[in-house]
Amino acid sequence: MERTFAIIKPDAFAAGHAGKILSRIYEEGFTVVGLKKLYLSKIEAEGFYYVHRSRPFFGELTEFMSSGPCIVMVLQAEGAIKKWRDLMGATNPAEAAEGTLRRQFGSSVGENATHGSDAPDTAAFEIGYFFSGLELL
Ligand code: RTP
Ligand code: MG
Repeated sequence: MERTFAIIKPDAFAAGHAGKILSRIYEEGFTVVGLKKLYLSKIEAEGFYYVHRSRPFFGELTEFMSSGPCIVMVLQAEGAIKKWRDLMGATNPAEAAEGTLRRQFGSSVGENATHGSDAPDTAAFEIGYFFSGLELL
């Protein structure tokens, strides 16, 4: 079994889509190992997206991620990292396939409803950034 890290981003949380997204997560067969609501500060968002620090959208991205509450989760399944990214769909909601979360709930490249780790090493960093071992029993 593999674990990945997921976020219901501030746009989806503010729009009241968290429940529908969580339903979909259960329907697709993930186990929710950890879950909490957070309101990230700018500094916390910058630390989380540190790999993107030199990208032109870093300021916009971290402003957005600290613009309101979000839900952070650890999801477990067979092949969880790819399974969750497939369920989210392409980064740009306009390019995301029918039936994906970003297609359904995203509104732009920036405000794209969800986040998911892209590899085992980033999943390990991202899970550890938000959850202690005790929170994942
Ligand atoms: P995420 O990390 O949030 O799961 O998204 P991702 O892997 O599909 O995309 P990534 O390349 O890691 O980019 C992280 C987030 O930055 C925002 N972004 N904005 N304005 C832009 O051109 C741009 N490009 C990326 C998106 O919100 C993306 O999810
Ligand atoms: Mg990414």
